[in-house]
Amino acid sequence: MTVSGAKNASLALMPATLLAAGPCRLANTPRLRDISTMSTLLETMGVDIRHPGTTIELDTAHVHSQEAPYEMVKKMRASFYVLGPLLGRYGHARVSYPGGCAWGPRPVDLHLRAMEALGAEITIEGGYVIARADRLRGAEIQFEISSVGATGNALMAAVLAQGSTVLRNAAVEPEITQLAHFLRRMGAHIDGIGTNCLTIEGVDDLHPADDSNIPDRIEAGTFLAAAAATGGNITLENVSHEHLTAVLELFRRAGCDISVTENTITLQSDGALTAIDATTAIYPGFPTDMQAQWMAMMATANGSSVITDTVYFDRFNHVPELQRLGARIDVTKNTATVHGVETLTGATVMSTDLRASASLIIAGLIARGSSEVLRVYHIDRGYEAIELKLRNLGADIQRVDSEDY
Ligand code: UD1
Repeated sequence: MTVSGAKNASLALMPATLLAAGPCRLANTPRLRDISTMSTLLETMGVDIRHPGTTIELDTAHVHSQEAPYEMVKKMRASFYVLGPLLGRYGHARVSYPGGCAWGPRPVDLHLRAMEALGAEITIEGGYVIARADRLRGAEIQFEISSVGATGNALMAAVLAQGSTVLRNAAVEPEITQLAHFLRRMGAHIDGIGTNCLTIEGVDDLHPADDSNIPDRIEAGTFLAAAAATGGNITLENVSHEHLTAVLELFRRAGCDISVTENTITLQSDGALTAIDATTAIYPGFPTDMQAQWMAMMATANGSSVITDTVYFDRFNHVPELQRLGARIDVTKNTATVHGVETLTGATVMSTDLRASASLIIAGLIARGSSEVLRVYHIDRGYEAIELKLRNLGADIQRVDSEDY
C-alpha cells in the first residue's frame, strides 16, 4: 500500500506559499478534507489553486485579502497557520481566534506571544486576532512548551523579519523540518533545521519554489496498527521508517515482525499481541496522533497496558466508544489502562475526531460481527480513501453514507 503525503506538513507548506508572489508546486500533497479546507481558505485570500492529482499548484500572485474567517478556522484549527506568513509579508492579518477542540483546550498563546516578540501588536476583537507590524524584527524566543503550530507560525513570520531570530525549544517534528526546508527553497536563511534551536536570518524577499512532501507517518502507523491488530501482513510503500522509530519499536515489542528498507516498511503479525505500555511525547517520541489507534490494538492484546498522553491530557473521546465494542478500559486523568479482552463485538459507534475514528475502524475490523462507524467525515479529514485502501488489503469495509458536516 502506498502511503500518502503528510497532511500536517502540507497544512504548513500551503500557507507558507503566501510568503512570496507567484506559482509554487507541492508534490505528494494528499487529497483530503483538511487540504481542501486549507485550499478554500487560501482561495478566499486570492490564491489560485489547482490540485488535479497529488501535486498541488498554488499561485499567490493575486492575493487581495489577509483574513481567515471564523467559518474556516472553526472547521480546522490549522487555518491559524496563515497568521505568521500574512504578518511577515503584509504586516497585518485578521485571523479568527480558534475555539475549543473535541479533545479539550488547545490554546494559541504561544503563537501570539511569538508574534508579539517579533514586534507585532496583537489585539482580539470580535473573536478575531488582529495583528499588525510595520515590519517584524528578529527576536530570541524561548517556547515554554514545544509546539508544532507555534514553531511553524513563528518560523514563517521570522523569515521576512528584519534581523535574526532564534527559536529555542522549537518543535522537531518531521513536518516542521519539511517546512523549514521548503522555506529555504524559497530563499529563507534558516540554520539548525531538525534541531530544537532554529536560527533565522531575515531576508527582504522570498521567491516561489517547488517541493515534494514527506510521507504521512500517522497514516502509515494507522495501517500498521490495523494489520497488527487483525493478524495481517502489510507492506507500506513511500514511507520513511526513520520518522516512525518509536512507533516501530512498540510494534516489535508487541510481537510484530518488522523489516524496513529505505522507503518501505513490512509488518507481519499473527494477531496474538502482547500488551505494551505507550506514553505519548513530542517527536521523536510516540505520537499523540497514534494514541487512539494503539489503544484499539491493545484492546485485545494479552494482558493490560497503560497508555498515557502527555501532549493532550483529555484526548480520550474514543474510550467510551471502544467500550461499546467490548473493550475494558479505565481512565484516570491522562492515563488509560487497557485490560486486553478475548475479542470485541461489533456495534454502532460514533467518531468524535480524526484519530478517534481511525481507532474505531481498527476496533471494528477486530470485532466479531459488523460495526458501523458514524460521523465518518472525521476520517476524511486525514485519510485518503481509507475504505478503498483497507479493502485492497483484504478488509471487509464499505462507506454506506457520507454525512456532511
Ligand atoms: C500539531 C498537529 C496535531 C498533533 C499535535 C501534537 C498539525 C496541523 N497538527 O497540532 O495533529 O496532535 O501537533 O503533535 O500539525 N500549546 C499551548 N499553547 C499554544 C500551542 C500549543 O499550550 O499556543 C500546547 C498544546 O495544548 C499541546 C502542546 O502545546 O499540549 C503541543 O501542541 P502543538 O504541538 O502546538 O499542536 P498543534 O500544532 O496544534
